[in-house]
Amino acid sequence: MEFNCGFIEDNRWFRYRAAAIIVEDGCVLFAGNEKDDYFYSIGGAVHMGETAEDAVRREVFEETGIHYEIDHLAVIHENFFKDNMGIQKDMDCHEIALYFVMKSRGTKELKSNSFTQGVRENMYWLPIAELSKYRAFPSFMKEYLQSEHAGVEHIVTDERIKEGYKYPLREEAERLLKEAESCNPGPWGNHSRTAAHCAETIAAKSGMNPEKAYVLGLLHDIGRKFGKRHLGHVSDGYSYMMTLGYDDVARICLTHSFNEKDISKYVGNFDTTEEETALIEEGLKAIELDDYDRLIQLCDSIAGAEGVMDQIERMTDVKIRYGAYDQEKWDTNITLREYFEDLMGEDLYVAVDKDNYKPE
Ligand SMILES: [Fe+2]
Repeated sequence: MEFNCGFIEDNRWFRYRAAAIIVEDGCVLFAGNEKDDYFYSIGGAVHMGETAEDAVRREVFEETGIHYEIDHLAVIHENFFKDNMGIQKDMDCHEIALYFVMKSRGTKELKSNSFTQGVRENMYWLPIAELSKYRAFPSFMKEYLQSEHAGVEHIVTDERIKEGYKYPLREEAERLLKEAESCNPGPWGNHSRTAAHCAETIAAKSGMNPEKAYVLGLLHDIGRKFGKRHLGHVSDGYSYMMTLGYDDVARICLTHSFNEKDISKYVGNFDTTEEETALIEEGLKAIELDDYDRLIQLCDSIAGAEGVMDQIERMTDVKIRYGAYDQEKWDTNITLREYFEDLMGEDLYVAVDKDNYKPE
């Protein structure tokens, strides 16, 4: 039995890995399986006593059925993450990987017949130009493949969640929003920035955590990354954030559109599959709305792409765009404004500097 260079002890997971970057005809090869809802790089643990070069050739052959030749060592990757599924669930993961660029064969044909964790592993050629549309790890691959490189690069990725918090740090949240906007550009990006600004300011004056409020406001519409959908952006955002282990954000993706916790009151098209609708309904049922849910609902109702809007004006604008606005939802938004004004002891528009704030 070969011995993998790695260990699992308590909740610590370490692995020394060799991985391959295989590019053919504008596409890069990733692996996937029916257990995990994301793609991952071709490669695996280096065996004890094995060189990284031998390991990558062996792994590539095991996964693709093809003897690829190595072109050069491209990236040394230090990867810190915390997974929320599979064998690494809730573990502190630390991985060192050497990425080798393999020589192109001029064909995408493979003879793959590989299995992982008892399920079949499939090979996917993902178009490099569209890589950010996929949940594919490592996340550096998209940028790396779209620029020129000389020599070996050292990349560090830190996707650990701050202890006890199920939301990303501020900088990571900003990066996620930028990446999402590049997939689906539109005014929703700056709308999100305005919501984040309002959430942060109101939270600071209401005895809540301003950092958390900012991140939740910034990512509440992150589901729009996956295209122009109405109700679909709710389930897309929820699933995406759950994959990254950001449960607190996933929750906001669900609750921000439903201050009544009632899916039938959604303002917009019902463009979800049966499965997605069930996901939203069941998720909402299980949640008892808290002040963060209420805060982002309020901020969503005053956040414009150009800055903070008058609540009535913004709701009227939405009503005109979609043809209707549920009266109860409308009234609840006004109640939310009063609720937070009470907590702050200050007028909402003064608190968020409505006349001067501009998103950037
Ligand atoms: Fe929004």
